[in-house]
Formats: sequence, structure tokens, C-alpha cells
Amino acid sequence: MKILSIETSCDETAVSILEATGDESSAHFRVLGNALLSQIDIHREFGGVYPAVAKREHAKNLVPVLAASLEEAELMKEDLQVLPDELRTEISVLLTREPELAEALFAFLDETEVPDIDVIAVTHGPGLEPALWVGVNLARALSLAWNKPIVGVNHMEGHLLSALTKPESEKDFSIQNLELPILGLLISGGHTELMAMESWLSYRLVGQTKDDAVGEAYDKVARMLGLPYPGGPEVSKLAENARERGNTQMPSLPRPMMKDSACDFSFSGLKTAVLYLIKDRALSETEKEEIAHSFEEAVSDVLFAKTSRALLETGAKTLVLGGGVSANTNIRRVFSERMTIEHPEVSLYLPEPRFTTDNAIMIGIAGFYRALKQDYTSPDNLVASGNLSLSPASV
Ligand code: KG4
Ligand code: ZN
Repeated sequence: MKILSIETSCDETAVSILEATGDESSAHFRVLGNALLSQIDIHREFGGVYPAVAKREHAKNLVPVLAASLEEAELMKEDLQVLPDELRTEISVLLTREPELAEALFAFLDETEVPDIDVIAVTHGPGLEPALWVGVNLARALSLAWNKPIVGVNHMEGHLLSALTKPESEKDFSIQNLELPILGLLISGGHTELMAMESWLSYRLVGQTKDDAVGEAYDKVARMLGLPYPGGPEVSKLAENARERGNTQMPSLPRPMMKDSACDFSFSGLKTAVLYLIKDRALSETEKEEIAHSFEEAVSDVLFAKTSRALLETGAKTLVLGGGVSANTNIRRVFSERMTIEHPEVSLYLPEPRFTTDNAIMIGIAGFYRALKQDYTSPDNLVASGNLSLSPASV
């Protein structure tokens, strides 16, 4: 099955084409085309992602990114096409709010053959709704123009499933030999949740943050330390410096809700504790590094303690980390070390670095499994949903 996948939930505009074979017990994927344009340099100027700016950039870049991905997959055949008037009108109506995208899309459709793909997968949530709509509307328009089915993909399912892949070569990877139940720790700018997958692709929320997401806490602490957006990698770099030096002078920070019997998290108290440490004074570079270090130690301790509790509660055989924050060096190290000692019976999956940041390959992977389940949506019914959840209970 050839899957064309689209991701526009936040600040990356991405389109991939995957060739997928197999089924839920053993699947193989090959990347045929993969194009991605990051908006990070634009958002850095504002210190964060503004939905209207993200939407404008997606609308401007999505068709060129689509063309680049098809080109790499050798699926872009030039040919003058006449789109029937009725279809052209339908697509124009659908793209009323994205006139720039409509113009680029018609120019593209008018000179390109229908590509040899089987299904279109698109992120329809969670994320920034205006940004999501751009990808969703492109998918709906392509589905009409090419007469191809659509599957709507949950962005977090993309993070989770892509983290379960094993690389075989630069372009090939597989997902196989998984033991259920699977527990997912999903950590990103908008999410901190423990999700149990007791049967394939059906989820139960085991725990979540009561306030800030862990990535959000990283970004806020970064701002307090005068570091640029996105703050996670910057805080991590400083903390690693302090760790290498050893012997830090900063007090240890609170571990919110660590003793609580539930699997929920809270990070706003930790953020306030960092603010209290800083107290409006000018910090030396060493002090900044040590604060970043204390913050990171508290974060990974809480994440591990809650995950450990959730492993016992669910009897999970597999643990997988996914989302932007799973790129964090210390979290990866703490989980690798402590899992071998404290849960030797559980297999740990950490995403390859290329799957920690947002991308369309992960949407293609999830799209494949959704297509196997015939989870198709008609273009008329597909909507972007900023708060889309994986677990039915918390929709
Ligand atoms: O999954 P993602 O790219 O976007 C969302 O879906 O939210 O996650 C972005 C978040 C940001 O908060 C960013 O600061 C954080 O992931 N992040 C990190 C690291 N790399 C990215 N946090 C800690 N350490 C990192 N190395
Ligand atoms: Zn993400």
C-alpha cells in the first residue's frame, strides 16, 4: 500500500510517501519520498508559535512540499490535465479560506497526472486548529481531485507508533514482535500522558498532567533563563554541562505528586520553584546550568516514577516513549538505565531521533494501520480537531 501523508499540526509542514506491507503483527515500511519545511526560524522571532502565522506559512508552503515529496518518490508525472468544472468549483469552495493554497493547488493539479498512491493520511488533531485545517483541507481537496480515500490520523498515535519502529536501513524500517499491553509515555509541548494499548490501536488513558505539559514546562524554564524558543534542547544542553562538571550547588527541586497513588503529573509547581530560585537576579552561566540540571533531574524522576507505577497497574510488557520531549538526552538515559534494573521484563522502545520531532512519516505509519482497519473518512466529514484524544473516555 502506498500512503501519502500530510502533517501541519504545529510548526512543521511535511508530506511523505511510504510503501507499507504486512499487517499488525508484522509490518514493513519504506520511505519513498519525504519533504519537510520547518517554521522554527520564523516562530523564534516571536518566542513561540502563533497559530495565525503557522497557518499562513503552511498555506504558502504545502503545495511545494507536496510536489517535492512526490518528485523524490518519482511519482510526479507532468501532464496537462483538465479538471472537470464541477470538481474545480467544489475544491474552490472547500479552500475558500486558503486562497493562496487554492491557487497553488490548481496550478499543480493542472499539470500533474494522478499519482500512483492508494490512500491519503492526514493529521486531523490534536494541535493548533488553524494549522491543522490547512493540511486537512488539502487532503480533502486531493481526495476529490484524485479520487483517493482519506484516513484521519491522530498526531499522538503517529508519535507512539513511529517510536515502535526498528530501523533496517536509511529508508526501511519495521514494526514487529510487539508484546501487548503496550504503555505509551507521550511527552510533547501540548501533552504529558500515559496511554495503555491493551488491544491493538485501542487506548485507555492511565494518567495525564493536571496543568502544564512537560515540553511547556521546558519552554517556560528556558524563557526564565533567557534562552531562545524552542527551549527544550537549550535547557538540556545547559543541564548536560552541569552534569559533566558534577558537584552542583543548586538545591534539589520538588517532585510534584510523586508520592500520590495516581499516575497523574503536575509541572506548574516545579516551574514556580525554578522561578523562586532565580528571584530576578542576574545569573552566572554556571548558575543557569545548575538550575537547568536541577529542573531536569526533577522532571525525569517524576516521569519515571509515574511510568513505573503505570507499568505495574497495566501489566504492560512494552514501554514506548514518544513526542518532542522524548528527544531529551537525560530522559532517554534515565529510562534506559532504570528500566533494566527496575522492570527487566518490559521491553523499552525509544524513538529514533528523526521521529522525535514532528514529521509526516509517523503520520503515514499510523495511516497504514488505520487503512488496514478500513478507518476511512469521506472528505465531507473530515474535520480538524485541536483537542482530539486517543482515548474514548476523555474525548
Ligand atoms: O512533539 P513536538 O515537536 O510538538 C508538539 O506536538 O507539541 O514537541 C515539542 C516540544 C517543545 O516543548 C520542545 O521544547 C520539546 O518538545 N523538546 C525538548 C527537546 N526537544 C524538543 N524538550 C526537552 N529536551 C529536548 N531535547
Ligand atoms: Zn508532536
